[in-house]
Amino acid sequence: MDRETQICGLGFYVPDKILTNDDLEKLVDTSDEWITTRTGIKKRHIVEDEACSDLALVAAQNALQDAHLEPQDLTHIITATFTPDSYIPSAACVLQKKLGIKDIPSCDINAACTGFIYALDLARGFCALYADAKVLVVASEVVTSRVNFNDRSTCVLFGDGAGAVILSNSGEDGAVLEDVLLKADGSLGELLTVKGGGSAYPLTFGQKADEDFFVQMQGQTVFKHAVRSMSNIALEILKKNNLSVEDINLLIPHQANNRIIEAVGKKLEFPPEKIFVNVQDYGNTSAASVPIALAEAKQKGRIAPGDRVLLVAFGGGFTWGAALVKF
Ligand code: UT7
Repeated sequence: MDRETQICGLGFYVPDKILTNDDLEKLVDTSDEWITTRTGIKKRHIVEDEACSDLALVAAQNALQDAHLEPQDLTHIITATFTPDSYIPSAACVLQKKLGIKDIPSCDINAACTGFIYALDLARGFCALYADAKVLVVASEVVTSRVNFNDRSTCVLFGDGAGAVILSNSGEDGAVLEDVLLKADGSLGELLTVKGGGSAYPLTFGQKADEDFFVQMQGQTVFKHAVRSMSNIALEILKKNNLSVEDINLLIPHQANNRIIEAVGKKLEFPPEKIFVNVQDYGNTSAASVPIALAEAKQKGRIAPGDRVLLVAFGGGFTWGAALVKF
């Protein structure tokens, strides 16, 4: 690639309403002790009457402000989500309207929890093609719209939120997006599904949604693949760039479960103090988890100028990916 792609703005947003483990104890047969020891999650933010594009809008406005840009400066919008406002129009088109702009290409992509990393690579492609590109990448999820609150094995895991970045070729103080690596293995698709309403599982008029309409997951198997895929792709992107674990100042993994994060850290021999974790506050926000963590890590002073950050995620599909960012 000829041009250097930069991240010139970061932002995130989570809805105000908080659902604690104690609240969940009142909904299903679970306990704060079980959720905390098995996942590390203490609370998650959930929407009341906001849709995907509403969360995306605030995250995008925060990223625009951080980049000292106006919505009119944007050239493309990519929204990573598996919970768009509707099938049509896409969340990206609804977001475009809410930003008060027109004409620029806007679309959604779905790579489940890896969606943000996938969108980064697509945005990097736009930046390579168009010298003046200013691409808004926003990962926004109302995961709770596809969570079965009768299923204790999944409903304790997820939260809602959005994270956004702006990519360009010309940001003077921008962080350099050094590389992105993506993978997928469709043969593992059945491990994590949201089937209902898709064309292979169509709803008929008047039919009530059953459990197929919501997230279903083979937790233990997903756990194993998560650890393996994130560790392997982290090592692969480091090797590809002639880097080692010592060259990374902060690892930002997909925030699904603290035990998965710890296992990845151990496999990579990464010191825990160099791993950013906020799953305790937000739960698993799917595609939004990595950009929320990235923006929060920056906000909290965990990333200094010159630091190299490794982003790594996995998700349904099965998909996984990694990105290197030099601040
Ligand atoms: O973005 C991708 C998202 N996916 C993931 O990150 C999921 C990866 N998997 C996991 O994080 C873990 O597998 C879970 C946290 C989902 C489950 O933890 P686990 O240690 O694998 O538990 P398990 O599924 O083996 O279940 C152990 C026990 C079972 O009871 P029995 O059969 O031993 O009597 C479950 O029924 O825990 C029970 N259980 C619960 N108990 C209290 C399952 N969910 C709950 C719950 N509260 N919420």
